[in-house]
Amino acid sequence: MSDITLDIVELLLTAQIYSKYPEMDPSDLPKDIRKFYWSRDHKTVPKPIRVTVTDIEKMFQEENIKNKIKTLPFVTIDDQEFSTKITALDVGAEWFQKKDENRDRISHNPALAFYYEKKQTEGADYSNAKTKVRPKEVDREWIESLIAEIEKEEGGPEMLKLAHISAPEDIYQTMKDFVLTHEQEEETKKIVKAIQYRDYLKRIGLHDVGKILMVGPPGTGKTSLAKAMSEHLATPFVEVRLSMITDQYLGETAKNIDRVFALAKRLSPCILFIDEFDFVAKTRSSDEHAALKRAVNTLLKAIDNISLTTDGVLLLAATNHPKMLDSAAWRRFDDIMKFPLPDVDMRKRILDIVTKEIDGDFDTAEIASLTHGYSGSDLRMVIREGVLSALVTERTELTQKDMLNAVATFDERAIIKTNEYED
Ligand SMILES: Nc1ncnc2c1ncn2[C@@H]1O[C@H](COP(=O)(O)OP(=O)(O)O)[C@@H](O)[C@H]1O
Ligand SMILES: [Mg+2]
Repeated sequence: MSDITLDIVELLLTAQIYSKYPEMDPSDLPKDIRKFYWSRDHKTVPKPIRVTVTDIEKMFQEENIKNKIKTLPFVTIDDQEFSTKITALDVGAEWFQKKDENRDRISHNPALAFYYEKKQTEGADYSNAKTKVRPKEVDREWIESLIAEIEKEEGGPEMLKLAHISAPEDIYQTMKDFVLTHEQEEETKKIVKAIQYRDYLKRIGLHDVGKILMVGPPGTGKTSLAKAMSEHLATPFVEVRLSMITDQYLGETAKNIDRVFALAKRLSPCILFIDEFDFVAKTRSSDEHAALKRAVNTLLKAIDNISLTTDGVLLLAATNHPKMLDSAAWRRFDDIMKFPLPDVDMRKRILDIVTKEIDGDFDTAEIASLTHGYSGSDLRMVIREGVLSALVTERTELTQKDMLNAVATFDERAIIKTNEYED
C-alpha cells in the first residue's frame, strides 16, 4: 500500500467529515487541505468540499491518480464532473483506520479525530488533535482575505497605510532565537498566559492586564520580541507606525486610528504593536498642528478603550526614549518591560545564537568581552561584517581574526556616527 493512496483517502475522508458535520470549522482541517480549499471571497473553506481528480493530482503532484482510486471499492469517480467521492463513509473510515496503524494521521487531523472519537475508536482524541494543528489565524490566506475585505470598505486603503498586518506563519523571529533577561522571561510568560486565559481573567473581573510598554535603547529586541510572541501565540500581528501620521493624512488620521483599533478587534485574538510610541510625547509637548494633537488624543482614548479580556487584543508599545513620555502616556500601561543593553553573559549567548550555523574556529566569549555597550542588533551587524569580509576571500569558515576585525570596523563606524551627531 503506497502512502499516496493513504493520502488520498485521508483527504477524501476529511473533506466528507468536514462537509457533513456542522460543528466542523476550517481550524479542524490539516493545514494543507485548509490552504488548498480556502476561499478568499468567503473567508473560509466553503462547505461542501468537493474533491476532484485534478485537485488530488495538484495536491500530491502525481499523475494518473485515477487508476489508484479505482482500486478502492468505497470511492467512486463521477466521470462527468471529474469529482471523487466516498460512497460509504463507514466502510472507508474502517479501511483507513486499519491502515493507519500507529494512528499518526488520525491524531494529527482534528476532523478525523472528531469522527473516530464519535465512533468510540480507541485512542481517537479530538481535543488532542486540535492542539497539533495551528488555527486558521496563522494562515496568510486568512489575513489576506480580511485585508481584501477592508480594502473595499470606506477609508480602508488609507488605514492600511498606517497599519501593517502579518500572519504568524510569515514571521521568522521565534522565541527560541531570543536571549531574554530573567525579568523579560517572567514577563513574557505572564503575557502568554494572560492571552491564553483571557476568558478566566474576564470572569474574575481582572481587566487591567495586557497593555505593556517596552522600553529600551534601539536594537535591544523590542520589535522582534513582539513579533516572536505573535508567532508563538499563533495570533496575527498588527503593527502601527506612528511616524506614518504626517500632515499628509492628518484630516483622516483620527478616524484611521479608530479604524486600526476596530481592525485589531476583528482580528482578535491578536497583538497590536505600536512602535515609536514617543511620537505621542513629541506632539503633546510641542506646538504641533492642532489636528496632530487631536490624532494623538484619539490614540490615547483608543488605548483606554481596548482590552485584552474583552477584545482579545494584546497591546504592546515600544519606545527608545522613555524620558520623553509624560505621566498621561505612562499610566495607560499595566506593565513596563525593560530592554537593557545586554551584559557580557547575554552578549555571549546572543553571539552563540547568531553564529550557530557558521563554521569556523572563533571564541564568542572573547568577542562578548570586547563589545560592552553593543545592542543585540549591533552584535548581529558585527557577525554580518565578519561573514561578508571572509566571503571576499572566498572563505565560508570564520576565524577569530575575522571576528576581531569586524568588531574594530564596527567601532570605527560608531565613532563616525557620533561625530555626525556632534556637529
Ligand atoms: N536579546 C536579543 N536576543 C536575540 N536577538 C536580539 C536581541 N536583541 C536584539 N536582537 C536582534 O537584533 C535585531 C534588532 O532588534 P529589534 O527588535 O529591531 O530592536 P528594537 O525594536 O529594540 O530596536 C533583531 O534581528 C534581533 O533578533
Ligand atoms: Mg524596533
